[in-house]
Amino acid sequence: HSVPMLSLSNVFNDEELADFIDRIKRFLNVSGNIPVVAEPKIDGLSCSLRYEKQKLIQAATRGDGSEGEDITQNVQFISDIPKRLPNDAPDILEVRGEIYMRRDDFNALNKRQEEGGKQIFANPRNAAAGSVRQLDPSVTASRPLHFFGYALGQVSERFADTQWDIRKKLKSWGFVEAEPSQLCETTDSIVSYYNLRPDLAYDIDGVVYKVNDIELQERLGFVSRSPRWATAHKFPAEKAITILRSIDIQVGRTGALTPVARLEPITVGGVVVSNATLHNEDEIARKDVRIGDHVIVQRAGDVIPQILGPVLEKRSHDSIKFNFPDHCPVCGSTAIREEGEVVRRCTGGLICQAQALERLKHFVSRNAFDIEGMGTKIIEEFYEQGLIKTPGDIFRLEKNDKNTLTPLRAREGWGDQSARNLFDAIEARRKIPLDRFIYALGIRQIGEATAKKLAGFYTDFQTLRTEMQKGQDHSSEAYADLLNIEDVGASVADDLLGFFAEPHNRDILDDLQKELAILDYIRPKPVDSPVVGKTVVFTGTLVTMTRAEAKARAETLGAKVAGSVSKKTDYVVAGEDAGSKLKSAKELGVKVLTEEEWKNLIG
Ligand code: IVH
Repeated sequence: HSVPMLSLSNVFNDEELADFIDRIKRFLNVSGNIPVVAEPKIDGLSCSLRYEKQKLIQAATRGDGSEGEDITQNVQFISDIPKRLPNDAPDILEVRGEIYMRRDDFNALNKRQEEGGKQIFANPRNAAAGSVRQLDPSVTASRPLHFFGYALGQVSERFADTQWDIRKKLKSWGFVEAEPSQLCETTDSIVSYYNLRPDLAYDIDGVVYKVNDIELQERLGFVSRSPRWATAHKFPAEKAITILRSIDIQVGRTGALTPVARLEPITVGGVVVSNATLHNEDEIARKDVRIGDHVIVQRAGDVIPQILGPVLEKRSHDSIKFNFPDHCPVCGSTAIREEGEVVRRCTGGLICQAQALERLKHFVSRNAFDIEGMGTKIIEEFYEQGLIKTPGDIFRLEKNDKNTLTPLRAREGWGDQSARNLFDAIEARRKIPLDRFIYALGIRQIGEATAKKLAGFYTDFQTLRTEMQKGQDHSSEAYADLLNIEDVGASVADDLLGFFAEPHNRDILDDLQKELAILDYIRPKPVDSPVVGKTVVFTGTLVTMTRAEAKARAETLGAKVAGSVSKKTDYVVAGEDAGSKLKSAKELGVKVLTEEEWKNLIG
């Protein structure tokens, strides 16, 4: 995707909605109303359509947001997708939207599938996704799919100043826009739009609000993977009552023991649910959930189903209280709860097979190494068979396969081609961007956003490793630098440094460094600006923009924004009433700019 395909933040009630609006106002420092466009949130499969010279040249799924699957052939049969646009459409135009299936079409499709002894789909969304991903486009052709356009990707020229006008233009070019839609001037009108809950021919799981003014959208920008200028207001979750049959304990990547409820299967909001999370031991005690109880199950969108509590009137005398184990059910090591923590963790570390396996699953997952064809099932199988025990083993799979008696291609369910495809997919990932690599390590508290920040700061893996060694000493400059990175507090730093201090992890890293080329971090949009790579500190009160906006803007232009002044600071931008930071800048001889000078500098 030339412009990343993002996701949306969520709000679940009127209060969170008000917070969303307030945050926008604070960010922009405006006091009046901010008009927003409200429209249905369709539960389908997102897709980006690229038009060049008014001709549809590519359709792609969202994938990980920067790279999706090519579905150009499969969308040819979707009549809501124009294949040609009128001449007034820009030369380059990307329209993003949702491919979906209507409920009546879905029911009819399932009936046909059943009669033909074929796969039944759980819900319209799965049916739409399954239909689009057909390798044979003629199967897609037989499936009743529709498309709503709701956002833009790359465009060669601006053709509208508001989201509302984008909708109008898209309609005039032959796209279908989701209705009912409303241009809401006040929060009250947003709330009344939300409460409409119209009965539509297709499933919606909430509504989406988008700031109407495109210039404001641009100023608001993005936080990590979602725009600041839009959010999804989800409908309340669906509920149902069923019986709790048993509670299993799962051991996660970082050793956390999570209780999982095994339920008598029940349909909740169109999906059959047989497992639900119980979060942790306090939660079980607090809700007083017992095995054999009737329990209320709730499912909201893609979120894992939850248990709200037992139905006490239905409790039978033989229901059983659950004793949370104090040992890991997989490796038998003691499981302890640190003070102040809700989670009990297995202390087995890497001797715990569950942790080792979960780490491997994380390592190959979509936002990490994303090895095509190497999903959860295969990793589990290879781990059990001893083919892959550590991440490095993945990259020796083909070499080792040559020396084995039963090579992959001779195994059940495999053949020459499928083995070749897997080896090729692994080869393709021998080069990996630094941020993905850091994320793939599965260090506690290091999610994608933090991994990016670390990659942005250290730039290459060797520097990161050296700094992590130096940072073990809390009085070092390396440690201070680490804490200066946004998102990194003492607790995150602890987990990070702890990971690099563990000899076994260092062996894994040495091994991986031999197998891989870890690519130096490249800033997402190679921006050409006078402040690329510069470190800036804002201090005092800014007049023409808020601190948050100034920071977001500087970061978009490739600058690092720091919280304190050091020798490494390039500029201190001093607003009104600047205090100690301005003083240290002068002492250290760091260049000081007024707000005006800063704005002139960045243009
Ligand atoms: S706008 C930059 N509008 O919801 C934001 N998304 O949970 C672009 N979705 O990935 C998204 N209906 O697949 C937008 N009316 C709508 C939508 C919508 C459904 C999907 C979309 C997105 C997901 C986020």
